[in-house]
Amino acid sequence: MSISDVEVFPAEVQEARLLINRRLDQYTRFTADDSDPSCPERLREAIRYSLLSNGKRLRPLLVMAAAHVCGGKMENALGAACAVEMIHTYSLIHDDLPAMDDDDLRRGKPTCHVQFDEATAILAGDALLTMAFEVMATDTPPQVAAQCCQLLASAAGPRQLVGGQVEDLAAQFSKPDIDQLQRIHSRKTGALLTVSLELGGTIAGGTPEMMEALCDYGNDIGLAFQIVDDLLDVQGEESQLGKRTGKDSEHGKLTYPLVLGFEASEDLAQAKVESAISALQVFGPAAEPLVLFANFVVDRTR
Ligand code: IPE
Ligand code: IPE
Ligand code: MG
Ligand code: MG
Ligand code: MG
Repeated sequence: MSISDVEVFPAEVQEARLLINRRLDQYTRFTADDSDPSCPERLREAIRYSLLSNGKRLRPLLVMAAAHVCGGKMENALGAACAVEMIHTYSLIHDDLPAMDDDDLRRGKPTCHVQFDEATAILAGDALLTMAFEVMATDTPPQVAAQCCQLLASAAGPRQLVGGQVEDLAAQFSKPDIDQLQRIHSRKTGALLTVSLELGGTIAGGTPEMMEALCDYGNDIGLAFQIVDDLLDVQGEESQLGKRTGKDSEHGKLTYPLVLGFEASEDLAQAKVESAISALQVFGPAAEPLVLFANFVVDRTR
């Protein structure tokens, strides 16, 4: 199942996806004026090559959906949604570098360092990481902008995403350890998914009860998402995934199928998704888009 599957996702989700893509394009045009030197052309090309490629946009869609279920306006969450996608894309560019997972295919195209060169890919990642905070500070309602910058920095930083990536690399070819594996997955992947929901809820002025529900939902789908990513590395189709398969075992990565086997990993992902959905009761029928996203996390083929 693909996220651009109109039969499964309502027109509102497709519309939100278009808005996100359009805004990401606008943020990275870098048109120069006399007072403001523009971005060097090769850097601009590399940023747009990776950012405007065919990503699922799950994280920015979660930002928008969380704002919506908390009764806020989706337009107010668009800057935060794009900021999260910039962080995510930077993390993928760096994740693919030879010093990390050494991948040559991403989103159906050569990875950034293969298409350009390593230095340009590192710098394109740096640029996206910094731009995310410029966008968040500028295009989030001022009364919550500082709080949103802090939330995003914390989820993307050394204790969460970056720390998880460090631990993921350090755990290569190590003894299987389920606690360590869960910690790696929740930090390298879960934290950014959870903060996407927290950002949407914060911008919409969600109540403490709503925020707690969004965090519980995020923690569950975050873990399920990376379990399924591990499964797709073994069972998925390169042509659909747009990235290479079989890389995790080649690199001795600590993954769910390695530690628990396929069936138990599938069952755990399914249980996490059910638990995620049960956390949404406070929202009533308005939670429907979040229910669809949770089911997508386990049913997806890319
Ligand atoms: C891939 O994320 C990296 C992980 C955290 C597993 P996605 O599967 O969301 O990648 P895109 O954005 O659709 O390319
Ligand atoms: C990537 O995890 C997590 C981040 C980029 C932070 P993976 O290394 O499993 O992602 P893929 O499989 O390369 O997309
Ligand atoms: Mg990795
Ligand atoms: Mg990788
Ligand atoms: Mg993976």
